[in-house]
Amino acid sequence: MPIIAVFNLKGGVGKTTTALNLLAAIAQRGQRPLGIDLDPQAHLSHILGVEPRNADDTMFAFFMRQRPLDEIAAISPSGVMLCPAHLDLAKIDALLGKGVNIVTRLRLALRDAKMPSMPVVIDCGPLLNALSLNAVFACDLVLVPVSADYLSLQGAKEVERALNALEPVFRRRLPRRYLLTRYDLRRKMSTAIDATMRETFRPEEVAQTRIRENAKLAESPSIRLDIFRHAPSSRGAHDYEALAGELAAHGFVR
Ligand SMILES: Nc1ncnc2c1ncn2[C@@H]1O[C@H](COP(=O)(O)OP(=O)(O)O)[C@@H](O)[C@H]1O
Ligand SMILES: [Mg+2]
Repeated sequence: MPIIAVFNLKGGVGKTTTALNLLAAIAQRGQRPLGIDLDPQAHLSHILGVEPRNADDTMFAFFMRQRPLDEIAAISPSGVMLCPAHLDLAKIDALLGKGVNIVTRLRLALRDAKMPSMPVVIDCGPLLNALSLNAVFACDLVLVPVSADYLSLQGAKEVERALNALEPVFRRRLPRRYLLTRYDLRRKMSTAIDATMRETFRPEEVAQTRIRENAKLAESPSIRLDIFRHAPSSRGAHDYEALAGELAAHGFVR
């Protein structure tokens, strides 16, 4: 059961867009993935139309009272299974801290023998807090979207440092892929960031696939659709399908 955490320490880099459309691309490949929204802003939950008013019906209850994931999971109108987020998730750090038994909670739940085997995509917020640590500890792959701008690359470098600092805990290098998003060949900045990324990170950890700047990708959240439903022949659909294919070739998606 491959588990992918979509994470960057910068906001607005395409994490939620990537989580949404990777879930859809996995479904296109004939599987039923589970999405987990760990961002208190709950954008993924909003786009998928799963927005419980009561925090107890969201990941908040999973952390606060160990409510089982299968009780929290809801099916979106478009058929995606999602454990939704809630604004109250922002309080988790203050309420529970970052102890080992807290940051490994999601890992234990997802790797429980009773948990049905399915691909999982976790959408993180832009902070290194108990929530994103739960995602990092649970996952098989950290997928780091880097939108083609300088500060996004800075955020990705901070992720690299944070993951490397955790290496003694994992006793291995945590698999990761840096994914260039909002790529536009015509913009100098785009090609410069692309080159810098390939110098900064290990070449094998930079995804071959680039997600191009695409108006259809930008407009699809407003109509609460993934790119395959909104514009199946768009560049956005093509690029996210290619990403799923690349991850499958490396065993991170089946
Ligand atoms: N490839 C893309 N082309 C055009 N717009 C994009 C692309 N990827 C993301 N966006 C837009 O960029 C903004 C930030 O993306 P989002 O996925 O919400 O980032 P994050 O979750 O990292 O904060 C959103 O308005 C989104 O629609
Ligand atoms: Mg987001």
